[in-house]
Amino acid sequence: MVSRAFVLGVLLVGGLPGPRTAWAQGMATADRIQGPGWWPTQGTSPRKDYVGAAACARCHKPHAATQPATSMARTAARAESSEVLREHPALSFQLGRYSYRVDTRGGQSVYTVTDGTRFISASLSWALGVGRVGQTWLFERDGRLYESRMSYYDSIKGLDFTPAHALPAPRDVEEAMGRAVDDPEARRCFGCHTTASTTENALDLAHLVSGVTCEACHGPGARHVAAIEQDRVGEARQAVLNPRTLDPAASVDFCGACHATWWDVTLANETGIAALRSQPYRLESSRCWGKGDARITCVACHEPHRPRETEPALYDTRCLSCHVSGKAAVTREHPGRACTVATARCVTCHMPKYDVPWMHSKFTDHRIRVGPR
Ligand code: HEC
Ligand code: HEC
Ligand code: HEC
Ligand code: HEC
Ligand code: HEC
Ligand code: HEC
Ligand code: HEC
Repeated sequence: MVSRAFVLGVLLVGGLPGPRTAWAQGMATADRIQGPGWWPTQGTSPRKDYVGAAACARCHKPHAATQPATSMARTAARAESSEVLREHPALSFQLGRYSYRVDTRGGQSVYTVTDGTRFISASLSWALGVGRVGQTWLFERDGRLYESRMSYYDSIKGLDFTPAHALPAPRDVEEAMGRAVDDPEARRCFGCHTTASTTENALDLAHLVSGVTCEACHGPGARHVAAIEQDRVGEARQAVLNPRTLDPAASVDFCGACHATWWDVTLANETGIAALRSQPYRLESSRCWGKGDARITCVACHEPHRPRETEPALYDTRCLSCHVSGKAAVTREHPGRACTVATARCVTCHMPKYDVPWMHSKFTDHRIRVGPR
C-alpha cells in the first residue's frame, strides 16, 4: 500500500527547504543497487547464497534475540499466518453499491466483493504490513497478482480504502475488488517487505522469507558463514555488508532503499507533505543534517535490531549530542544552539506528528525544526 504514493497530504507540513549540495544527500536507490556489492532490495544473488536468519542466530545471539520482534521482521506474512486476519475473522465494509467481506476460517481467508447481483471471491495469499498502522492483502486470480482495494487499519480495527489506489468509481465488481500488480511492481513490493524474494532478477514467491530479516539488510550470508567456519575472518567480514562502515549519507540511503532516499523522492517529483513518510528525505532537509553527520543518521536514533522506542525522553541524548543546553556556548563539537523553551522531550515539539486521514494514523515528521510558523 505504501511505496511512495502513500503520501499525499500536501497541505499539512510547512515550506520546503532550499536546494542542498548533492553529495550530502546521497544517491538514488536505483543507482545504489547497480553498484558492486550488496545493497538492500538488490535482487541479483542466487537463492543458494541465502542461509536464513536461524543460521545467523547461531553466532549473533544478541541481534537475533530482538530483531524478530521488530515490525520490520514481521511486515509480511502468508495470509494463513497473518495475526490481523486471525484476530479479526469477520471484516466487512460497505461502499456505495459494493460490499466487501474478509472471512477467515481454518487458516483460510476469503475476500468477497459483491454489487448485490454478482459475487466474486478469492483466497488471500499475502498480508503486507504488520498491522501497526495497517495491512493490505495480495491475492491471485487467473494466474495474476492483485492488491486488495480494502485494507485493514489498526486505529479503526476495520477496513477502509487502500491508499493511492482508491478508484472513484469502479466499473464492475472485478475493478471494485482490486488492482493488478505487474511483475516489476511485485518485485519492488516484496523487495521492501520480504527477504530473498527476487533472486537472479526473478521473483520467487515460493522460496522467499517473509519480513525484513538479517539478509534483507546485510545481504546473502552463505559465503560469510563458510569463511567464518574456515577461520577466514577477514574474508568473512568482506562477504556481508556492515552498515556501520558507511558514511552518514550512505547510511541514510541504506535505510532509504526501502524508506525512500532524498534522491528517490526528488526524482519522483514528490514535494511538500507528499514526502512526509520518507524519513530520509525529511531528515536530510533539516538544518540539523547540515553536510551529514553520524550523530544524525537513522541508526543514531533507531537501533534497527530492536523495536522502536516510543518514549520521547529517550531521544533527548541524541539531540544533546549536538545541541548545547542552558547558556553554554556553541562549539565545533556542539554546533547547535540551545532551546530557550524546554530542556527535555525535544522531539515532542521539534519532530511533530501529523495525522494522515486516509491512513487513520499519525506519522512523525523527520524534518527537525521549530514548529510550523
Ligand atoms: C520502496 C519500498 C516499498 C515498496 C515498493 C512497498 N512498500 Fe509497503 N512499506 C514500506 C515501508 C518503508 C513502510 C513503512 C513506512 C513507515 O512506517 O514510514 C511500508 C508500509 C506498508 C504497509 C503498512 C501500512 C503503512 O502504510 O504504514 C502496508 C500495508 C504496505 N506497506 C503494503 C505494501 C504493498 C501492498 C506494496 C506493493 C504493492 C508495498 N507496500 C510496496 C516500503 C515499501
Ligand atoms: C559461524 C558463526 C557465524 C555465523 C553463522 C554468522 N556470523 Fe556474522 N560474524 C561472525 C564473526 C566471528 C564475525 C566477526 C566478528 C568480528 O570481527 O569481531 C561476524 C561478523 C559479522 C558482521 C560484521 C562484519 C564486519 O564488517 O565486521 C555482520 C554484519 C554479520 N556478521 C552478519 C551476519 C549475518 C547476517 C549472518 C547470517 C546470514 C551471520 N553473520 C552469520 C560469525 C558468524
Ligand atoms: C528491506 C527494506 C527495509 C530496509 C532496508 C529498512 N526498512 Fe525500516 N521498515 C521497512 C518496512 C516494510 C517497514 C514497515 C513495517 C510495518 O509497519 O509493517 C519498516 C518500518 C520501520 C520502522 C518502524 C518500526 C516500528 O517499530 O514501529 C522503523 C523505526 C524503521 N523501519 C527504521 C529503519 C532503519 C533505521 C533502517 C536502516 C538501518 C531501515 N528501517 C531499513 C522496510 C525496511
Ligand atoms: C533493517 C536492517 C537490518 C536488519 C534487518 C538487520 N540488521 Fe544488523 N545491522 C544493521 C545496521 C544498520 C547495522 C549497523 C548499526 C550501527 O551502525 O550502529 C547493523 C549491524 C550488525 C552487526 C555488526 C555490529 C557491529 O557492531 O558492527 C551484526 C553482527 C548484525 N548487524 C547482525 C544482524 C543479524 C544477525 C540480523 C538478523 C537477526 C540483523 N543484523 C538484521 C541493519 C540491519
Ligand atoms: C533525531 C532522532 C531521529 C532520527 C535521526 C530518525 N528518527 Fe525515526 N523517529 C524518531 C522519533 C522520535 C519517532 C517517533 C517515535 C514514536 O513516537 O513512537 C520516529 C519514528 C519513526 C518511524 C515510525 C513511523 C512514524 O512516522 O512515526 C519510522 C519508520 C522511522 N522513524 C524511520 C526513520 C528512518 C528511516 C530514519 C533515517 C532517515 C529515521 N527514522 C531517523 C526519531 C528519529
Ligand atoms: C549532528 C548534530 C545535530 C543533532 C544530532 C541535532 N541537531 Fe538540531 N541542529 C544542528 C545544527 C548544526 C543546527 C543549525 C544551528 C544553527 O544554525 O544555529 C540545528 C538546528 C536545529 C533547530 C533549528 C532549526 C531551524 O530550522 O531553525 C532545531 C529546532 C533543532 N536543531 C532541534 C533539534 C532536536 C530536537 C534534535 C533531536 C531530535 C536535534 N536538533 C538534533 C545540529 C544537530
Ligand atoms: C515545549 C516545546 C519544546 C520543547 C520540549 C523543546 N523545544 Fe526547542 N524550541 C521550542 C520553540 C517554541 C522554539 C522557538 C522559540 C525560540 O527560539 O525561543 C524552540 C527553539 C529551539 C531551537 C532554535 C534555537 C534558535 O536560536 O534558533 C533549538 C536548537 C531547539 N529549540 C532545540 C531543542 C532541544 C535540543 C530540545 C530538547 C532538549 C528542545 N528544543 C525542546 C519549543 C520546544
